[in-house]
Amino acid sequence: MTRIAIYPGSFDPPTRGHEDLIRRSLALADRVIVAVAINSTKQPLFTVEERLALLREMVGGDPRIALETFDGLLVEFAKRVGASMVVRGLRAVSDFEYEFQMALMNRQLHPSMETVFLVPAVDLTYLSSSLVREVARYGGDVSALVAPAVARALAGRFRS
Ligand code: PNS
Repeated sequence: MTRIAIYPGSFDPPTRGHEDLIRRSLALADRVIVAVAINSTKQPLFTVEERLALLREMVGGDPRIALETFDGLLVEFAKRVGASMVVRGLRAVSDFEYEFQMALMNRQLHPSMETVFLVPAVDLTYLSSSLVREVARYGGDVSALVAPAVARALAGRFRS
């Protein structure tokens, strides 16, 4: 049986932290679907298509990793693609409350789907898309925090 995991998120933009979790989740599942949520962020910096393209540049070469979008409830998407688990990253205690609530709500809606929390590499624990956006907005160097294509896209976005 093929074990399919979903790694959902906004990915606005994708970071080295996301990449780390995508690769770690392959230890648990045969296939990982990185699922970009449509409408998850009110005013995203990058369109869904741009985020997909950036993810493709970052992890697209691996046949075990699929890149998709989803709209509406995560559990409905999970049922549609036959995923048995959802992977989420836990960086700090501050992530816990929201993640815990979301995991239990998802279980309420879809009892056979498990949420699995993975801890990123220690040097990436402080990283978030919102901090990356802020540093890039003010011209800071984010090259160690994101893939080269993402760094270029950020530079282009904030130059214009
Ligand atoms: O990267 P993010 O913004 O933390 O991702 C949050 C996301 C997209 C995973 C979450 O908001 C989500 O699953 N949205 C889809 C709608 C849904 O199913 N909501 C109920 C979950 S309790």
